Amino acid sequence: MSHIKDVTGGTPIVLESLWKTYANFVAVSGIDLSVGAGRFCTVLGPSGSGKTTTLMMIAGFVAPTRGRILVSGRDIAALPPQKRNLGVVFQNYALFPHLTVFDNVAFPLIMRRVPQAEIAQRVERMLETVELAGLGGRYPRELSGGQQQRVALARALVFEPRVLLMDEPLGALDKKLRSSLQIELKALQRRLDVTVIYVTHDQEEALTMADQIVVMQGGRIEQNGTPEDLYDRPATAFVAGFMGDTNLVRGVVMAADKDGTLRIDHPTGRRIIARASGFQAGDHVAASLRPECLSIESPDGPEEPENAWDGRIAAVTYLGDAIRYHVAVGENRPTLAETLVVKAARRGTEHRRFSEGDAVRVRWSRSDARVLPPTRADARILPPMQAGGH
Ligand SMILES: Nc1ncnc2c1ncn2[C@@H]1O[C@H](COP(=O)(O)OP(=O)(O)OP(=O)(O)O)[C@@H](O)[C@H]1O
Ligand SMILES: [Mg+2]
Repeated sequence: MSHIKDVTGGTPIVLESLWKTYANFVAVSGIDLSVGAGRFCTVLGPSGSGKTTTLMMIAGFVAPTRGRILVSGRDIAALPPQKRNLGVVFQNYALFPHLTVFDNVAFPLIMRRVPQAEIAQRVERMLETVELAGLGGRYPRELSGGQQQRVALARALVFEPRVLLMDEPLGALDKKLRSSLQIELKALQRRLDVTVIYVTHDQEEALTMADQIVVMQGGRIEQNGTPEDLYDRPATAFVAGFMGDTNLVRGVVMAADKDGTLRIDHPTGRRIIARASGFQAGDHVAASLRPECLSIESPDGPEEPENAWDGRIAAVTYLGDAIRYHVAVGENRPTLAETLVVKAARRGTEHRRFSEGDAVRVRWSRSDARVLPPTRADARILPPMQAGGH
């Protein structure tokens, strides 16, 4: 069984083939997930992929159709939400409108019969942490959306839960407050040694905050790993496209050598030479080429033997510290799939090296092309119906 040993004093969470169906619609499709004690796990995925539903099942607001949820190795299915001892911040998880900010934050402590003097101390400290010191006497309707969100965060953290579940908690905030709260939240999480599951739409937020990232699609987990795993070693074209910018060049494997060298042909007749195991001739694949891994040069000089595609600059964008070139590489077929995006770091005072319309050559090395299976279809399969499930 997947009972992780509770070594740090934090609380591990394990989901075992967890399903949620509504009539014949599968919202969560038998997911397995293990989040170690004290880890910060971020859940990413497109709208409707099942993120909120998963969090709601852990919190106890939605009953799973099948499967188990283990917290510290204990199945919590029978416990009502308030007995699960989880801190919860949902985007629309309302504050008590008739209570002041202070009393909202104090509420979990009153429920736990913490002595009055200690309550005052802990609430004040928590309000300072979320930069709301001095606003304890206000009512929620007298606060901005972002301030209300921070009160919700303070209320979820004040009783120092072992697990914190958050669904887009910073979504309503401006960029500056958002990034300062990200740092605050991460520091708080480390200090309190709390296990966090954090849903966001923002992949940059996921990369900076998480120890572990889960990408969901169509009710399933598409990939689960460290930020480095997901960015540098995406398992599918979907994950590669979802985590940062990439060029996904689709083609067919024409030859696969024993040593893992692949020859991939693109519909324009161009060719990619790459290395990857597990593919054979005839496979449809997508080669992921990160814009920062491509180099751009003048097309004169001898034709390069491999991974050098000639094209024309279609657009140039300044990024401040870098320049982004869109290079049309499809002959007379300027569709999106035949444009390569190259991100070139600016060197010294150098400005544009190439302009729109210039003929250029885009190059990369074998090791920079990551060969991936095409994206899995969104097939929402109903759970097995035999009796005797958990
Ligand atoms: N009570 C319900 N009845 C029927 N379908 C539901 C119900 N709740 C959620 N769903 C469906 O389940 C799927 C997953 O919803 P969920 O809210 O988990 O998505 P999400 O990943 O959180 O999306 P978003 O990023 O938009 O918040 C959606 O297609 C949604 O319409
Ligand atoms: Mg959601």
